[in-house]
Amino acid sequence: MTGLRFAACVLTAATVMAQAPQARIKIDTDRRIGEVHPWLFGNFAEHLGRCIYGGMYEEGSPLSDARGFRKDVMEGTKQLGVSVLRWPGGNFVSGYQWKDGIGPKDQRPVRPDHAWGGVESNRFGTDEFLQYCETVGLTPYICINAGLGSINDARDWLEYTNEKRKTYWADQRRKNGREKPWDVKIWGLGNEIDGPWQLGHKNVEDYTKFALEAAKSMRRVDDSIKLIASGSSNFRQGADWIQWNRVVLDKLKDEIDYISLHTYVGNRENNFEAYLAQSQDLDHRIEVVAGLIQAAQSGQKKPRPIAIAYDEWNVWYRAHGGSEYEIGKTGLEEQYNFEDALAMGMFFNSFFRHADVVKMANLAQLVNVIAPMFTNKQGMFLQPIFFPIAEYGKQRGNIALDTLVQSPQYTPKDRQPLGYLDVSTTWNEKEKALYVNVLNRSEKLDIATRIENVEGAVQPSVGVWEMNYPDMKAVHFFNDDKKVTPKMTTVTAKVEKNGFTYTFPKHSLTILRVGVR
Ligand code: AHR
Repeated sequence: MTGLRFAACVLTAATVMAQAPQARIKIDTDRRIGEVHPWLFGNFAEHLGRCIYGGMYEEGSPLSDARGFRKDVMEGTKQLGVSVLRWPGGNFVSGYQWKDGIGPKDQRPVRPDHAWGGVESNRFGTDEFLQYCETVGLTPYICINAGLGSINDARDWLEYTNEKRKTYWADQRRKNGREKPWDVKIWGLGNEIDGPWQLGHKNVEDYTKFALEAAKSMRRVDDSIKLIASGSSNFRQGADWIQWNRVVLDKLKDEIDYISLHTYVGNRENNFEAYLAQSQDLDHRIEVVAGLIQAAQSGQKKPRPIAIAYDEWNVWYRAHGGSEYEIGKTGLEEQYNFEDALAMGMFFNSFFRHADVVKMANLAQLVNVIAPMFTNKQGMFLQPIFFPIAEYGKQRGNIALDTLVQSPQYTPKDRQPLGYLDVSTTWNEKEKALYVNVLNRSEKLDIATRIENVEGAVQPSVGVWEMNYPDMKAVHFFNDDKKVTPKMTTVTAKVEKNGFTYTFPKHSLTILRVGVR
């Protein structure tokens, strides 16, 4: 940080203190929601476009290691703070035959991919995925084929990855070079089976019958696994999405550990403030499903704990639609701008506010396909959405707090009023530090905010991480990826009555780190 920049920050703070606060954030470390689970910083890699081939995996590239893993992407994955990685789909998995993707690579069959219109070489399969996870330090999460696949396939897959004894599939794994079990703990019981676009789409009765038997059979192979039921997809609306989740929870409550949810948002109307008001939908969806979990468990004295796995979420609306599929070039290569980076804060704030029930979340996806990293044969750049994801990730393990927020309000078309400030807070007991995550979704107003704390003395030295940029539509590209990036400073707050005033600039995302003694 230059001296000049520091002077500017102090000046801002001085100006703010002269101004009466318009908003208030009141923090109480005794009001605990739950742990910010490390798996909230998960990701997703699908056989789709250039996510696997040309993204994570590029055989023969000077940028790859001997196995074909792109080293720059692996490093980016670590910097992004990815904890758990979901694979191999997505829509792709509902037509995937995992047995095609093991053994000598040159003998693996090439198959048409009927989900996205491409051709699957099968050169990246189960062992490659699990080696990748082991190398990068990721927890693997495999989603089974509950579309066109069978329960037997799913059971064999688990035997291949986890069986310790000498059995047919465990021996196949050994033959393919892996003696000890991969010990995959997280398994998804299918992807978006509620969606008519899904290969092997089912109605909820047929799905829950399948999932119940799959769960039973898989637990007989390894009863230590965690199972995720296929909850409602992004595109199911109205009472319909609730009904799907209600039946799934009712029928599967004694077998599953998570129910999945998927949400994609976009600024289709080109209205910044309305775009970032979609936090209302996220909060609503989570709260409804939390209620459905309780309803399903009503009357059970000791119900099996069930959490939400938000295992697909992101901004996705530009590279969308059937046209790419028709020409067999589906890529979903969304180019993200500054306002999309702010949307990342909106998602994490909502997950943190519901940390008691949202215990896993997977950004869709890792690289090239609706992703924070973008490659070509020569290198890679980071999209603006990369930076908030990496920064929020540093709060894993903190305790999310139930915080009072009073903020000037606005009313986007067809919505209930909501605050311009979208806030979550977390507490790190060991560091004795509060993290205050604030999205100011006003296009025009800087908002002076009094931040006060109930227990423990607020320290004046405050760390500030801020993402802000004058052009909402600014994007990155190869050799032009430094402009929409965060600024880090430390400011000295004037602490009065165990609080201070801070001004959150219009259209910005800020994370304050406040020490408490
Ligand atoms: O992430 C892209 C696609 O979105 C996934 O394949 C599918 O599950 C969802 O509809």
